[in-house]
Amino acid sequence: MARGSGGARAGAPARRIDALIREIDRHLRLYWQEDDPEISDAEYDRLFRELVALEEAHPKLRRPDSPTRRVGAPPAEGFAPVRHLVPMLSLDNAMNADDMRAFDERVRRVLDRDDPVAFAAEPKLDGVGVELVYERGRLEIGATRGDGRVGEDVTANLQQVTSVPLAVAGDAPERLSVYGELIFPVRAFEKLNETRLAQGEEPFANPRNAAAGALRQIHDVDRRRLRSLSFHAYAIGAGLPEAVSSQVEVLETLAEWGFPVSPDWALCADVGEAIAYHERLQDQRAGYPIEIDGSVFKVNELALQRDVGELARVPRWAIAFKFPPQQETTRVEAIFASVGRTGALTPVAKLEPVRVGGVTVSNASLHNQDEVNRKDVRVGDTVVVQRAGDVIPQIVKVVRSKRPKRTRRYRLPGDCPICGTRAERAEGEAVTRCPNRACPAKLKNRLLHLAGRDALDVDGLGEKLVEQLLEAGLVERPADVFALGRDQLVGLERMGEKSAENLVAALERARDTSLPRFLVALGVPEVGAGVADLLARHFGDIEPLMQAEVEELEAVDGVGPIIAEKVVRFFAEDAHRDEVARFRALGVRWPRLERAEPTAAEGPLTGETFVLTGTLAGLSRDEAKRRIEAAGGKVTTSVSKKTSYVVAGESPGSKLRKAQELEVEVLDQEAFEKLLSG
Ligand code: IVH
Repeated sequence: MARGSGGARAGAPARRIDALIREIDRHLRLYWQEDDPEISDAEYDRLFRELVALEEAHPKLRRPDSPTRRVGAPPAEGFAPVRHLVPMLSLDNAMNADDMRAFDERVRRVLDRDDPVAFAAEPKLDGVGVELVYERGRLEIGATRGDGRVGEDVTANLQQVTSVPLAVAGDAPERLSVYGELIFPVRAFEKLNETRLAQGEEPFANPRNAAAGALRQIHDVDRRRLRSLSFHAYAIGAGLPEAVSSQVEVLETLAEWGFPVSPDWALCADVGEAIAYHERLQDQRAGYPIEIDGSVFKVNELALQRDVGELARVPRWAIAFKFPPQQETTRVEAIFASVGRTGALTPVAKLEPVRVGGVTVSNASLHNQDEVNRKDVRVGDTVVVQRAGDVIPQIVKVVRSKRPKRTRRYRLPGDCPICGTRAERAEGEAVTRCPNRACPAKLKNRLLHLAGRDALDVDGLGEKLVEQLLEAGLVERPADVFALGRDQLVGLERMGEKSAENLVAALERARDTSLPRFLVALGVPEVGAGVADLLARHFGDIEPLMQAEVEELEAVDGVGPIIAEKVVRFFAEDAHRDEVARFRALGVRWPRLERAEPTAAEGPLTGETFVLTGTLAGLSRDEAKRRIEAAGGKVTTSVSKKTSYVVAGESPGSKLRKAQELEVEVLDQEAFEKLLSG
């Protein structure tokens, strides 16, 4: 439940980067694997942009496991992995017209061009990205985006979706892959939630979660729900016909082949028209039949797209221009403290339920005491809550003029509301914690954490069952779950023989695990799946890790001083060492890992710096850059005396003049390719 304070206390850049990666990884997991995000898209984007900016300012601090190197999250278990024919990229965001103009300028700077660039404009559909692969015109595979390279095979479910063509109309290429968005239409979504509420089930937070949920059904597939999904195509991966030379033609071709395409698309002659398109779309948003959260602009000419190129995670030739978040006002009915796995006391505001952008909001996290103080939220206050087409709403501010008389500032309780132990707040920390090791709230959340997908992944060990186990006194420490037998479980209320056997079987499966999963399950502070992987690869097994000093941990690429310190402190405690021993004694095991050695790119061009200008025949900028880097060279964007070579293709720009001025050697395509081939 507890979250960092999103940038308020930026310390040294390395610490902030570590903290941001931790936060972002957690939110990615909640979003992609649990379909249960905690923060708004806007908030997530802020964290992500802060990380990108810090990494750009301090390239040496860029960690190998940074989420900026990935798209989305790895595929969840339960569906077979599918490698995408062409990686499915994500999009960079613009939040306002200035960002949009900056994007346009960046594009024209890279292209070295003064004339306006035309953009294809489409609504940004707020659903789930999917790839459809057709072989000889027949739908063969349908996959989710996953981490952008590998997604999940959801073909059987996608075949049920009425708007997904099972065959391509007309003349299709041998092998075709189409990218698009699967969405839950707003009306159908509202009906679905009404039914769920009536049946005592939890409603979906938004249409996107409902779409993801429908697509990921494994058992008892609800076909009606799948049929009501709607698919809109916006890109061709493999099988792009040669005659197609622009995004507008991509959309027209997709439509001819029988695919529903992005609705209301338009061609904008320049950035001014693009901004006007966005504003028009925003005016239509409220009554729009599908959830949209902005507009997407793509450089229209495919040849220019290739020249502008791509970064690791996002194309540089496209951008998502987001709508401002949606806001409503409501009243704070109560503020209570919730206790998490680490004992953190998180203040939560209970709100008079209010609909914000189609979703009913009744709780908002206030994160910590500092945040409460900063916003001065009090019981009885009228507050502005915000949702950005997504889930855990934020309290933006208090409407002071509506504050009733005799309200009091809120303070977290001095004692843990669950076990009554005196709460503590360490110096320099924003978080107040319950220090009691045996606090039932902590134990409950630790068990739920242990059962989570990144940890030991124990099927069926959910909130209700954990509460029962604690009440019955069957579990006093997390490892105790592995001592549970069928007979003890059958004694519990509402636990049939079958369920008891299922849980015992799930525990048996969970026993055979991996070192990273075990580290996550232990709940070592700061150690999420990414860091756990790094540690496991470096140390190979848990004993050397438990004995490591701070210096050795810091030497692991991607582990900073904070993580190192916390890991060492964690394993210095006897209780934690005993816990590890108890897990082992109860049969939890993992294979020892080989240490991986990193490799550096060395080659004939080591030490040489290149600048590219103009268009190279049959060679995109990205490809040229990859080949230079593979040979050990570096590519930069501006020409200086230190530049070794400027490679000039067709219609080069000002960089060529600059090279001549500075007497930097200029290579034409032929000379460049010769150099590359050694
Ligand atoms: S194009 C190479 N067009 O937004 C560019 N994406 O935030 C790939 N999305 O991953 C995406 N509407 O799932 C594109 N008209 C549209 C879109 C769209 C929604 C999704 C897509 C993408 C995500 C990025």
